[in-house]
Amino acid sequence: MTIGVPKEIKIGETRVSMTPSLCRRCVALGARVLVQKSAGIVAGFSDAEYRAAGATTVGEAAKIWRAADLILKVKEPLPAEYDLLQTGQAIFTYLHLAAGPDLAQVLMKKSILGIAYETVEGSDGSFPLLKPMSQIAGRLSIQIGAYFLQSQHGGSGVLLGGIPGTMPGHVVVVGAGNSGAHAVQMAAGMGARVTVLDLDTNKLEQLDQEYRGRVVTLMSNPANIEHEVADADLLIGAVLIPAAKAPTVVTKKTVARMRPGSVIVDIAIDQGGCIESIRPTSHEKPVYREHGVIHYAVPNMPALVGRTSTLGLTQATEPYVAMLVRKGIERALLEHRGLQRGVNTEGGKIVYPAVAKALGLG
Ligand SMILES: NC(=O)c1ccc[n+]([C@@H]2O[C@H](COP(=O)([O-])OP(=O)(O)OC[C@H]3O[C@@H](n4cnc5c(N)ncnc54)[C@H](O)[C@@H]3O)[C@@H](O)[C@H]2O)c1
Repeated sequence: MTIGVPKEIKIGETRVSMTPSLCRRCVALGARVLVQKSAGIVAGFSDAEYRAAGATTVGEAAKIWRAADLILKVKEPLPAEYDLLQTGQAIFTYLHLAAGPDLAQVLMKKSILGIAYETVEGSDGSFPLLKPMSQIAGRLSIQIGAYFLQSQHGGSGVLLGGIPGTMPGHVVVVGAGNSGAHAVQMAAGMGARVTVLDLDTNKLEQLDQEYRGRVVTLMSNPANIEHEVADADLLIGAVLIPAAKAPTVVTKKTVARMRPGSVIVDIAIDQGGCIESIRPTSHEKPVYREHGVIHYAVPNMPALVGRTSTLGLTQATEPYVAMLVRKGIERALLEHRGLQRGVNTEGGKIVYPAVAKALGLG
């Protein structure tokens, strides 16, 4: 099997889909690996390291796409890559097809076997290839919030941890899942006052036990949300309803009651965001101000820490990539139900029902 690792071309993207260590494993299992030159450079992996791990480094992306049976990527193929996809080829990456009707058409037209990281399932029904990026986004959300709270960045000038004799900053986290729990951990670690709200009482119980009263847990309902958000220095949006658009949990009216210079980081922006006043931003222009409140909503936050994100992503993908090499793509999909759940497109069709439904094809 030939695995192709193209350099990511999305603006601000710094991750790479394969580390030299994963490359070494694939080569040992019998794969030929083609890595585009400088694909790993921003994440701290040199071309020489890939070559030492047994890869061939190639200058031109087109040569990799043409030769590969399996394309391993991080982000979905962008329009500039559509022509590079080879009919019948397999691709393993984040696809997010429910939000990408044009890409879905291309994958169907070219009969691409599209295996989406985001729908690969663990034996407990969890999404193991989404989890590490949510953890990173959750942890990052607090350091990003702390940065924009600083006076010279337009913020209210609140230090999240405060100092003795002053009130620490108030961090309100809506959603206590993977990203929310990691935001709570960072905020509590910095000495902030932390309130976390969720609909799932089990999640709240877990956090209550873990922090033993250091963190306030509250049921997510309009009254609690309005009361807490109005007092927040930093609001984190971290809700998810799997395979659906994020619900609006915080209204514009509530945002307007926040103190001027307070900050919102809506991690859920990749699913449309859970704050009514939010719209997507980019690494080039990450914030805007509305109702006097700084809004941050970058859909690919993990690219800010390309090294950690690459290591986190590839440690999660490694068992699946190794399985695809060892067994061959067809057998691996037949024998592993969780990996099979990753298949979104096959034989010219969308085969993942929720994605087909979202695209009006189900
Ligand atoms: N912006 C980025 O770069 C980035 C990176 C990674 C993940 N994400 C996104 O972050 C979001 C959260 O992901 P996750 O892995 O933490 O999800 P998760 O499933 O682990 O957690 C989501 C939580 O939201 C809760 N929830 C649902 N509705 C709620 C409501 N009305 N009020 C309060 N809580 C509610 C659920 O009970 C659950 O605990 C997703 O949209 C994910 O795609 C974004």
